[in-house]
Amino acid sequence: MGKPHALLIPYAAQGHVIPMMELMQRLVNHGVKVTFLNTDFTHKLVTDAFSTDENLNDLASFVSLPDGVEAEEDRKDVCKLAEAIFQLMPSKLEELINKLNINEGEKVTCIVADTCMGWAFEVADKMRIRSAAFWTASAAGLALLWSIPKFLEDGIIDNKGILMKKQMVQLSPTMPAINSENFMWARIGDMKTQETAFHFAIKTNEFVKLADCVICNSAYELETSTFTSFPDILPIGPLLASNRVAKQIGHFWKEDSTCLTWLDQHPIGSVIYVAFGSFTVFDSRQFDELAGGLETTNMPFLWVVRPDMFEDMKNDGFDDRVSERGKIVGWAPQQKVLNHPSVGCFVSHCGWNSVLEGVTSGLPFLCWPYFSDQFINQMYISDVWKTGLEFKKMKVVLFQVKKSRIKLNSY
Ligand code: UDX
Repeated sequence: MGKPHALLIPYAAQGHVIPMMELMQRLVNHGVKVTFLNTDFTHKLVTDAFSTDENLNDLASFVSLPDGVEAEEDRKDVCKLAEAIFQLMPSKLEELINKLNINEGEKVTCIVADTCMGWAFEVADKMRIRSAAFWTASAAGLALLWSIPKFLEDGIIDNKGILMKKQMVQLSPTMPAINSENFMWARIGDMKTQETAFHFAIKTNEFVKLADCVICNSAYELETSTFTSFPDILPIGPLLASNRVAKQIGHFWKEDSTCLTWLDQHPIGSVIYVAFGSFTVFDSRQFDELAGGLETTNMPFLWVVRPDMFEDMKNDGFDDRVSERGKIVGWAPQQKVLNHPSVGCFVSHCGWNSVLEGVTSGLPFLCWPYFSDQFINQMYISDVWKTGLEFKKMKVVLFQVKKSRIKLNSY
């Protein structure tokens, strides 16, 4: 018998590809043969952003399939992308597995797919391949999706997922209460998108039942009560770059490492790091508020401004006014930045990967959640772990950072 062969299938978004790549590296280190399946679009981004003198295929075998979306713009609509993938990919996946299985000793023995690619468990079931569902966000987020039948029964939502009662919900007696306004599907775009996201969640719940196990990029210590109440979710995280100074892979943009030398020039705990992940888009008012706030602090800051991040950014001389103490980059080596001694606090959108990275680096957060699960992640930071505050309390935190250069204990 050949060695085990795992086919890894991330959802086609930055915050999902990165943790799947980390899982890939751990499996390879344990002697598992890995084939990593991206969409054509994300495969190109990952390969282009990877260093030119190395080859991704030295790490594992990379393959890709079309995602069924024509225009680049449409990929920003998560529901549209997920639906297009669902229409096209299942049959293509079967063909791919049949091709991979031609070599007798290298047959695919297991599929690990992102929970958002739930249709892959149906393919695995049909082809009699064992499968694991990988949930890349907090266990509380998944527990919330699994509690949808109870919310319907209690009349908290209607059958379109629309909120009927605003209240704090307790998924189990020991879990922190969650505000029903922060249900993940309720924090995605307009009503129509929310409804689509809700039905996608229900479909996902059904697909996940076909998987042999559910693994989650979180740790028992971080979400003890959730893992205790939902024992079917297995913690395997946090999956972070194994050596924080090592090369980070799976990124969609090339990292600008000049910010590390810039950080070297600043005192310990003095720099505000501002980053909103791969997806957040701000309007000009939000940009002005943030830029104005950073300017007012009089403190050094490193701000990640992706090329596609702002609709209609005015700037208004901001760069010139803050050039002495502010650095703006298009994409940072975030894990290295968060572990740099000069960084004293993290202004974040609270995407789950950023949360794991910031918490394990011992940094206090200023939370500005934007989308989906980020509001629940913020609740963990500000109400449960108490390692940060909501954005509206910014002044207080900055004062603390300046005075005491606080560093919180990391996990
Ligand atoms: C998305 C969702 O928004 C998030 O809520 C969900 O939990 C996962 O999918 P994203 O918005 O991209 O993710 O945020 P996040 O989860 O924080 O992932 C971003 C990743 O990009 C992190 O690993 C972070 O280290 C990396 N990053 C971000 C960089 O390497 N450089 C940067 O400049 C910014």
